[in-house]
Amino acid sequence: MTLQKEYLCDVLIIGSGAAGLSMALQLADQAKVMVLSKGVLREGSTLYAQGGIAAVFDENDSIASHVNDTLIAGAGLCDETAVRYTAEHAREAMQWLIQQGVPFDQYQDQDGSMKYHLTREGGHSHRRILHAADATGQAVQSTLVEQVKRHANIQLLEHYNAIDLIPSPDKKRCHGAYIWSQQQRRVEVVSARFVAMATGGASKVYLYTSNPDVASGDGIAMAWRAGCRVANMEFNQFHPTSLYHPDAPNFLITEAMRGEGAYLRRPDGSRFMPDFDERAELAPRDIVARAIDYEMKRLGANCVYLDISHQPKDFILEHFPTIYAKCLSVGLDITKEPIPVVPAAHYTCGGVVVNLNSQTDIANLYAIGEVAYTGLHGANRMASNSLLECVVFAQAAARHILSELPHASPPPPLPQWDESRVSDSDEEIVITHNWHELRLFMWDYVGIVRTDKRLQRALHRVELLQQEIHEYYSHFKVSNNLLELRNLVMVAELIIRSALQRKESRGLHYNLDYPNTLPDSQATILSPRALAKP
Ligand code: FAD
Ligand code: SIN
Repeated sequence: MTLQKEYLCDVLIIGSGAAGLSMALQLADQAKVMVLSKGVLREGSTLYAQGGIAAVFDENDSIASHVNDTLIAGAGLCDETAVRYTAEHAREAMQWLIQQGVPFDQYQDQDGSMKYHLTREGGHSHRRILHAADATGQAVQSTLVEQVKRHANIQLLEHYNAIDLIPSPDKKRCHGAYIWSQQQRRVEVVSARFVAMATGGASKVYLYTSNPDVASGDGIAMAWRAGCRVANMEFNQFHPTSLYHPDAPNFLITEAMRGEGAYLRRPDGSRFMPDFDERAELAPRDIVARAIDYEMKRLGANCVYLDISHQPKDFILEHFPTIYAKCLSVGLDITKEPIPVVPAAHYTCGGVVVNLNSQTDIANLYAIGEVAYTGLHGANRMASNSLLECVVFAQAAARHILSELPHASPPPPLPQWDESRVSDSDEEIVITHNWHELRLFMWDYVGIVRTDKRLQRALHRVELLQQEIHEYYSHFKVSNNLLELRNLVMVAELIIRSALQRKESRGLHYNLDYPNTLPDSQATILSPRALAKP
């Protein structure tokens, strides 16, 4: 038998978005770091972020107000300690990004000094969003990629899928991960003193999503299989305004456009948000997405419209150059006409349970960014708090690892990956069919508005798919699509089981069988030990 290729490092970081790369840079002066990405280094949700990053920079704003707005958006389910921790560390995290070279927009104040331009988004009571025009994610991701490429202590492996974590036999400590090289088409092993999952969210479990292809919930599924608890998986955020155009799928129209005065209109041109909420277009996104869903179903409309055309052309071009160019490329001039929009799955509020050091239930295993559940978002994430969470918790994890590194023993020899009983797949159609089926029923049965009957139907289908995929996985060599499907179906089960446990409507979870909000409520925490199948 040929021996597997084995890598050794101090810290393995799985994922190269804002969370993974921030953590790598914070560690690399003192530790040997390896960063894995499923595609090219820049690909991930971070690259596509538009609106910006929330932090208190305005003198009339305050940390107490950022905390309060986050708690309100989170609909009573935020962990207040995590919210306070994040808001208090926001400015430091943004200063760090600025030091790395992120070019946030600035303007010259009346007194001649340069100030950061702050935009506004739903749920925020102040202008609080640092941004780089309407392409903040691109500015953050490019800057961080440039920095990690320069650091001699950071080894970068692109086009690699982490398959599974390698826990100790008693499942108490993490020793590394099995990884699959897409180019060599072989499984390799990484032995690491510490492992951090920074794999992003799971919105690809839905048919329509604003997320890139890599968002298949791999980290949540890997952590669950390794024995970690997950929380609040029922709270999927649907972004209200994704472009509705056959030639531009998955393109987001930033909430900052509503922050800068855009109106939502029915196909007949009338505004509808004032009928649903006194904050109108600036209500939190769960309310706006549900209102759009309601109006589309009521009117039998394919989409609604977002209209910024009443603002001066120069203003639109200055604030939304990327969206202007993208829409123009499909024949829409946003300075003259409204933009057709629909809601799309956007953000996974739940995830792997971590503490304020980003530690999971397993020693030496961390989770940061969208994959993690820190308690910050509760039942609904407030806009632009996510990139903030990535950087704040990457710093927390790095600090903790550096304090532990001097005493951390190297892992023992790790077991080889056994491929002796699998062959090349003979029926790829099984994978593509199951992919489509899963994402379609998740959209139809586990979407913006749910019922228990729909959730039960979805659960039944997920169980059938799991059997089929398990059988397939046991007989055939792995591939990117198979690995992602195996993870997505796991995540789908966690979402459905969490949704079935919640006997109320709250934040992003709306169930017609339980339309009221209970006076008292807790996070939904699932444990693999409690759900273990015989
Ligand atoms: P990502 O940036 O998604 O990176 C995930 C990484 O993990 C990728 O490198 C991927 O290749 C890797 N990966 C995944 N699985 C594996 C595996 N099995 N093996 C190896 N590597 C793996 N938030 C804000 O705060 N403000 C915004 O303005 C904003 N706008 C958004 C706009 C869009 C269109 C989208 C989609 C999201 C937006 N968000 C915004 C949310 C925010 O961008 C994400 O939550 C955040 O970028 C997540 O960062 P991350 O580092 O956790 O993951
Ligand atoms: C947006 O720009 O509307 C997205 C902001 C976010 O998801 O935080």
